[in-house]
Parts: sequence; C-alpha cells; structure tokens
Amino acid sequence: MKPSASATSAKTKRLYELVTPLRQFFFESPWAKRFGDPDICDFTIGNPHDLPMTAFTEAMRHWTLPQDKYWYSYKMNEDKARNVAATSLAASHGLPFRPRDIFLTNGSIAALAVVFDTILNSGDEVIFISPPWFMYEAMIVSAGGTPVKVRIDENSFDLDLRAIASAITPRTRALIVNSPHNPTGKIYPPPTLRELAKILESATAQNGRTVYLISDEAYRRIVFDQRQYLSPATCYPHTFVVYTYGKVLLAPGQRIGYVALPPHMPAADQIGDAIQALQMIKGWSFPNALMQHALTDLEQMSVDMEHLQRKRDRLVAALRQQGYAVRTPEATFYIIVRSPWEDDTQFVELLNSLDIFCIPGSLMDFSAHFRLSLTASDAMIDRALPKFAQALKKFAGDKHS
Ligand SMILES: Cc1ncc(COP(=O)(O)O)c(C=O)c1O
Repeated sequence: MKPSASATSAKTKRLYELVTPLRQFFFESPWAKRFGDPDICDFTIGNPHDLPMTAFTEAMRHWTLPQDKYWYSYKMNEDKARNVAATSLAASHGLPFRPRDIFLTNGSIAALAVVFDTILNSGDEVIFISPPWFMYEAMIVSAGGTPVKVRIDENSFDLDLRAIASAITPRTRALIVNSPHNPTGKIYPPPTLRELAKILESATAQNGRTVYLISDEAYRRIVFDQRQYLSPATCYPHTFVVYTYGKVLLAPGQRIGYVALPPHMPAADQIGDAIQALQMIKGWSFPNALMQHALTDLEQMSVDMEHLQRKRDRLVAALRQQGYAVRTPEATFYIIVRSPWEDDTQFVELLNSLDIFCIPGSLMDFSAHFRLSLTASDAMIDRALPKFAQALKKFAGDKHS
C-alpha cells in the first residue's frame, strides 16, 4: 500500500516511488512468490545457492566465542579490523592506505549512504552511470542530492567520457563509478580512468569546489581471465573507495564493508571526522562486533573463482550456440543477454513460465536485455539450458506465425 501523504514526508513519498519497481520485484514478483522452490532456476540476484564456504562458517564459529569481557561491547571503527582492511587495500591498490582512513560499515550500501551524507548539500548534483545499480538514485535523493544520469557507451560498455563531461555543471558534487560494472561486467580500462581524472580535475578547478569520485568497488575481486583491475583512486585523489565483502564471500547477509580515503586525498582528516560522526548519528552505522573480529580471517577468503569462471564460460558458450546475443563479462557475477523480444519483461515472463528467473533489463534501465547471475548453482544451470533453447524456439515460432 502507498504511504499516505499525512503519515509520511514528501521526501519519503518520492523515495518510495523510486524504489517501487525494485520493491515489487523483491516482494511481489513471480520470483518472490517462488523463492526457495527447489524446482526453479534462480539467476536473479547475487545470492548464494550453494552452502557457504566452509572456511567462512568456521571463521564465524571461531570468532563468536568471546575472548575478553568487551568482546560484544559497542563497536565503532575498531583498530584491528581497520588494520586488516588497510593492509589489504595498500597491497591491491599500491597506495599506502592508513588504518585511520578506513571507516567500517554494514556493506557498501551503508558506505554509500554515509559518503552521500558527508559531501552533499541540498540540491547538489551527483552523476551516476546507467544502467546503474538499483539504489543509487534513491540514495542520492535520500541525502538531499539531485541524481543526474549518464549512459554508458552501449557499443563498448565503457564510460562515455564526452557525455560525462557535458553532464557536469557548477552544481556537480560527485560522480559514482562502479567498476567492475554491474550489470555489464565491464572493467573500465586505465586510459578511460586517467581521462576521467583529467575531466574531474578541470571541473574542480573551474567550479572552485571539489568534484568527488565515488568508486563503488563491490566486485573488484570477482575478476575473470586473470584480468587486472585498476581502482579510480589511483588516478584521482578525491576518491572515496566504497567496498563490500558481501560479493567476494558470497555471504551478503553477514554485512561488512567500508569507505576508505586514499592517503593523498586532500582534507582526509576533516572528512574522516565527519564520516565517523555521521556513522554514529545515522543508526550506529558500524558492522557488528562478530564481523569486525572475524575480518582477520575473512579478508583473505574468496568464492571459488575458477568455479565461477567455469559457470560463466559454460553459460555464455551454450546461450550463444542456441542463438542468443551474449557478451562475455570480464568480471562480476553477471551476464547480460540481449532479449529476443524488444519487450524484455515479456520475454522474462516466458522464461518464468519455464521455471527460469532472472532480472529484466527494464528494471535497471537496460531495456531489451536480461541479466543472469552466475551465483545460480550448477544444477540450476543444467536444468535451465534446455529451457533457454525452448524459449528461443517459442520466440522464433511466434515471429513466423
Ligand atoms: C554495484 C553494487 N554496489 C553496491 C551493492 C551493495 O552491496 P552490499 O549489499 O554488499 O552492500 C551491490 C549489490 O548488489 C552492487 O551490485
């Protein structure tokens, strides 16, 4: 039921409208009604469909046992967890991240929220790239900002730098870059990131106010074919690194992530103080004690990337052979497939009738496509492949009838 005008604020009403398609998918769609049904092939979101990694379960069990009387006291940005994250980031990004510049959050959703609250004044514009991750727009509005959409280059799936440059105005406060990109699986190449840095530097100089880059790196460890990932933070000092362990551990319900400020970020100490204050005010936005203790072990764990890559290769090859137009993702959990019918919702309904569930492109501003999550189990893929072929036959039959 829609929130009534008298019971909620005008902003709540707008936010409700912005998340309505996603909310409906989560709670009311045919997938929602059949979630957990053993007969379905679930390619929707990055949820695990196999048991958690044994090492993960063991770490949870180990760190649950209190080692001192303050084990479960209030936690903020705990030194030990900060150290673990900073050491790992320094190694992966080649920048000397300081533990004090890591702000631990409940995954990257909370990290993004705290960054928006830290930097946005009412009406400040935030550029986001489309197709986007589902919640950027609503989160920008929630923090008082104005979302500005820029499309990717649909041929290369790369950033459209010219479009970004022309979307910048004197009100632009930030740009969100999500590399590797959900849903296309594209890793933005170093030359693109270097050019982007030049654009943001010149906008900052022209506006007399910093234009920040928010680097959503949720999938930076889910990379195929031994490709190299480069963080935008290495190219542009005014970058907030936003990270979640939910993807690499494939345990998105046990939430931990962070915002990290690169060592060369100007005014990092003031920004960090503001972030910490907002974490306290905004619902004690720190991960719970167990996840902070366990980070020592969790930091080095990863889903089986070889297995994930085998699933990618198998699905891409089989779908292509059946006649689907598919791009091979360089990274992330996702495969983007061209929908045989322009109306992707209708084609996804056909797949649903065959027990296959996935995300219609129009739910993420990418119409005429659908997205498959590689977190589906091998058994689901086995069952789904002949059904994908069946759906395509039905499409061909309808075209000729
Ligand atoms: C690009 C992107 N950013 C952020 C998130 C949120 O991640 P988490 O739920 O682990 O905070 C997701 C999750 O799907 C994502 O795909």
